[in-house]
Amino acid sequence: MSTRPIRIAPSILAADFARLGEDVRAAEAAGADLLHVDVMDGRFVPNISVGPLVVEALRPLISVPIDVHLMIERPEAYIEEFVRAGADLITVHVETCPHLNRTLEQIREAGASPAVTLNPATPLSALEQVLDLVDMVLVMTVNPGFGGQKLIPSALGKVGALRMALDARGLERCAIQVDGGVNEHTLGSVLDAGADTLVMGSAVFRSALGIEGSMARYRMLIDKQKGR
Ligand code: DX5
Ligand code: ZN
Repeated sequence: MSTRPIRIAPSILAADFARLGEDVRAAEAAGADLLHVDVMDGRFVPNISVGPLVVEALRPLISVPIDVHLMIERPEAYIEEFVRAGADLITVHVETCPHLNRTLEQIREAGASPAVTLNPATPLSALEQVLDLVDMVLVMTVNPGFGGQKLIPSALGKVGALRMALDARGLERCAIQVDGGVNEHTLGSVLDAGADTLVMGSAVFRSALGIEGSMARYRMLIDKQKGR
């Protein structure tokens, strides 16, 4: 299990959009480390969600970094706009980037932290060549497009090999994020796998415990598993 600090990134996809501002403030007050914003275009993924306007509206409400997950075709056309809107970290899919090095460099030049991700069926080898260009790798544990799906265990299996590949290249500082189906039941295996940044949508915003109660519970389970 990783010894690095575990960060929780609530995903607004599961929030109440009629009171989005209140929900994200509550998530920050409850200890969110990042705010995860899922951007979907109805082409790369079947669903359509939000764009830079929502990032811009949320930016002044919170101080934690905004983590933008671009599930869109031609992400390179929107990077500067998301950075202007307040994105601190931008994740692109290897499946949407034929010129991945260039796109990751573009994100850094625009002033955000670059991250790369891959779908459950995409092998890790697809991003081997760009590991030194990113601050974080996101391992998707569901097929992107919707919240509330079940975690795919074989996808989680990539995390261990990824940590080894990063460490072997001297990239110990690169974070590993997991997104999709992370909840009270899967949290243990996600931590065991070696992930350090956990996206949690329904598990935070749709929990019967509420935003504050659910976040406190996950933090307690994390500390317990880490033996603190
Ligand atoms: C899925 C998105 C996720 C989603 C996760 O395409 O990338 O960030 O919000 O939702 P949960 O945590 O409910 O699986
Ligand atoms: Zn996401």
